[in-house]
Amino acid sequence: MSKNKISSSSAPNVSGGGTLFRTKAGVIAATLGSAVGLGSIWRFPAEAQANGGGAFLLLYMACVLVLGIPVMLAETSLGRGGRADAVGSYMKLAPGHHWWIAGALGVLASYLIISFYMVVAGWTLQYLWDSITGALYAGADGTPVLALESTFHHRMEQYIGSDIAPLISTFIMIALNMGVLMMGVQKGIERASNIMMPLLFVLLLLFSIYALTLPGAAEGLEFFFRPDFSKITWSVAANALGQTFFSLSLGIGILITYASYYPSSTNLVSTSATVSALTTFVAVMMGVIIFPTVFSFNLDLSQLRGTTLVFVTLPEVFSQMPGGRWWSILFFVLLLVAALTSTISLSEVSILFVQKRFHKSRVVSTLIMMCPLFVFSALCSLSFGSLSDLKLFGLTIFNFLDTFTTNWLLPICALVMVIFTGWFAPRGTFRSQLTNGGTIAVRLYPVVSFIVRWVAPLLILVILATSI
Ligand code: PFF
Repeated sequence: MSKNKISSSSAPNVSGGGTLFRTKAGVIAATLGSAVGLGSIWRFPAEAQANGGGAFLLLYMACVLVLGIPVMLAETSLGRGGRADAVGSYMKLAPGHHWWIAGALGVLASYLIISFYMVVAGWTLQYLWDSITGALYAGADGTPVLALESTFHHRMEQYIGSDIAPLISTFIMIALNMGVLMMGVQKGIERASNIMMPLLFVLLLLFSIYALTLPGAAEGLEFFFRPDFSKITWSVAANALGQTFFSLSLGIGILITYASYYPSSTNLVSTSATVSALTTFVAVMMGVIIFPTVFSFNLDLSQLRGTTLVFVTLPEVFSQMPGGRWWSILFFVLLLVAALTSTISLSEVSILFVQKRFHKSRVVSTLIMMCPLFVFSALCSLSFGSLSDLKLFGLTIFNFLDTFTTNWLLPICALVMVIFTGWFAPRGTFRSQLTNGGTIAVRLYPVVSFIVRWVAPLLILVILATSI
């Protein structure tokens, strides 16, 4: 355990001598790449559908503004203040104390999350491949519309439950991640994000334009944008809060890790605000794409739940669209890009941890942390097939990890992180990071600080209580 000292002022210029992101655009692209993932593209429309459409959207936006941005500021200030991995940053800011355990839990949480996230990312890869070869739509032409849903349902179940095929695509995803991560922070993470994020926005734009021109689009838009306040309940609010943490990658050390690569000149406030705004924008665009499409094709809204939306409902829609196969290819590229930049950030948490704590090279750290994933992710993947009878607390391995990490570990890590930043980090750390050592004015500092000290811990406790 290294006890590097850090002065109580914890100047933002502390340089660990490590690599930093090269450009401002790179900082935004990488952080946004982490945020925009399956959470915004896939989970958001399903959550919105289940929690009252417009009402959920409003609550989500409020949560991002009131809680998401301040919590993001708290976490990035720890990362840039500590200039180390999730564990090391706590150690540097609170030498001799046990706060590093919060960082270690973050490393664990992010690791468990990638184990199952890789599996879904792998399915995306397979669906992209099957869209390219046409296998996904083989025979769908002659299928009566009414039978399409069961056709695609059957296809999904057969594929997911088939052991070998999903394993192969999961392994390819892990290998792709390793390829990028081994190239390092600037040549790997930053460059990949700089290429993939603009592509993601172009694709989203194409899809929104198409969806908005569908007959009957207005009805879908109305469902998504007109808030029905009677739908707002405690549990809907807690879901919106949970979605905020998930979609902004908060609380589990990702932002500590990435912010340790932010140059000293990076303005944390504008970076967090930009990333949060763009992530919300992506979620809104997904709503604008999904709901008009569902209404226009007369589909059942309940089909948006779980795996169905992406792997059954959308293929069903594509099979009926003119040029649908091309749209299908573009959609799975979009999803793959979103998943890849997020898995990269999730993986980087444990890679930097090994690199810094155990003084290993980047390549060795990547190998040490990513190779075991071939086993862990395989177990998650097989839990839809041969291992489906293996249950932990009544859940399959995949569902157990999903529930345990997102409902428990994530809020717990986030809770400790905001309490540490608000109350126990060396005096002045937070302010000094937000103002870049007093060189930029942050007029809302008292509000942000109040939220981090009081509001955020209380609201995170509400999420935890709701999970219980
Ligand atoms: N923010 C990304 C997403 O929404 O998919 C990745 C992610 C990070 C997911 C952290 C979950 C999480 F806890």
